[in-house]
Amino acid sequence: MSNEAKAYQDPGTPEEVSRRAFLARATIFGGTAVALTLAIPLIGSLVPKAQLVEANKGFSPLNKDEFAQLEQSIDKPVKIFFNKAVVNGYLREATDYYVWGIKLTDAELADMRKERPDLFNPQPGAAIDYPVGNLNFVMFSSLCPHLNCKYDWDTGLGAFLCPCHGSQFNKIGVHMKDARGKFIGPAPRGLDPLPFNQEGGTAQVEWIKFAANTPDIVRMSYW
Ligand code: FES
Repeated sequence: MSNEAKAYQDPGTPEEVSRRAFLARATIFGGTAVALTLAIPLIGSLVPKAQLVEANKGFSPLNKDEFAQLEQSIDKPVKIFFNKAVVNGYLREATDYYVWGIKLTDAELADMRKERPDLFNPQPGAAIDYPVGNLNFVMFSSLCPHLNCKYDWDTGLGAFLCPCHGSQFNKIGVHMKDARGKFIGPAPRGLDPLPFNQEGGTAQVEWIKFAANTPDIVRMSYW
């Protein structure tokens, strides 16, 4: 074996060994400190602050003309746009949102109650503590319950289709299955209905953002 190879195997003097161990520990400690410095604000930013959550609660009026279209249309859902003032610290910004609105027949509403009984049992403290199907209207959040992509109504399918991972939902928001009984796409639950009412002739909706990718409906924020 060459002298160079032997030198490589040489563990070195006790001082060199303890210096190397010290440097290794210092590197691990430094790396952990940097990772924590980056991770803590990131994790903090994912949890909405309580005062922001409260400040953004509340109903927003729906666009009158679009809502009038929905009142005429009972065979397919309609996209309804609205504007909401979102408070973020000192900032108050006008932000555009939309929901999918559907006017259901009594039979369809009865079907929805049967298929999705969890939505029709408003309990205090539950995520859905408001009546669903008020005046036969249902407003679905425009965010897919899988990873919050915006889904669309596919006229050919006669169903909602999410472009991101292919989840399909029927008109009453049920996560659809294929012919073998397997869910179409990875969504963990059906579409999320939002609070809706009509006051003084104006239709209004409350925007709620629910947690993505959980089987249960969990409120996250109001923007
Ligand atoms: S985000 Fe809709 S299926 Fe994944």
